[in-house]
Amino acid sequence: MLYLKKANLQDAEKEWLFVRDMPPDENGLTNEWTGVSREVFADKALPGMLAAERGEGLPRGYVPETIFFLWDGDEITGQFRVRHHLCDSLREGAGHIGYYIGNAFRGRGYGTEGLRLTLIEARGIVPEDEICLRVLKSNPASLKVMLHNGGRVVKEDEEHFFVRIPNRKEL
Ligand SMILES: CC(C)(COP(=O)(O)OP(=O)(O)OC[C@H]1O[C@@H](n2cnc3c(N)ncnc32)[C@H](O)[C@@H]1OP(=O)(O)O)[C@@H](O)C(=O)NCCC(=O)NCCS
Repeated sequence: MLYLKKANLQDAEKEWLFVRDMPPDENGLTNEWTGVSREVFADKALPGMLAAERGEGLPRGYVPETIFFLWDGDEITGQFRVRHHLCDSLREGAGHIGYYIGNAFRGRGYGTEGLRLTLIEARGIVPEDEICLRVLKSNPASLKVMLHNGGRVVKEDEEHFFVRIPNRKEL
């Protein structure tokens, strides 16, 4: 069964292994903890993730962010991040949601289902009427994940498509 779970202390061991193996940047989805040791994950990375949700310890100009992991049974398959509201840089940039599916799990619908579950979570977090997303034109898999979830392309620049998905609070 697929479900989302917020980053949390009880699952630290599996969260550590997943985050450690995420690359530093894939298609603009960044990870500052690639290769992190178990100790540094426990002392810095995980507390930082939990604090980010409370809006604490963030770099200047950053908005609070909730980190979810996508679980299939007892295995982590992906990470989904929800930025709580827009600021100018997010509006013109990365938008509300970022996601990553582990290499071993790609092409099996995890991205599509993970975004669907994340959009449900976002209804309780994001005040804006639309969820904003951005995707590289060279990343058709991620564009499909967005389109499968009701996304529509509203603009583009040389490198990216900008996608909007209704934030259906009434559902
Ligand atoms: C993008 C990403 C999340 C997709 O995850 P996934 O679990 O493989 O996605 P899905 O299995 O739900 O597949 C989505 C669609 O993309 C298609 N797809 C996969 N690879 C593709 C490719 N190279 N070219 C075109 N379409 C592709 C799949 O066939 C599927 O389409 P379908 O449902 O119509 O058959 C994953 O590749 C990833 O984490 N990439 C690195 C980080 C990243 O790019 N994040 C998004 C930043 S905007």
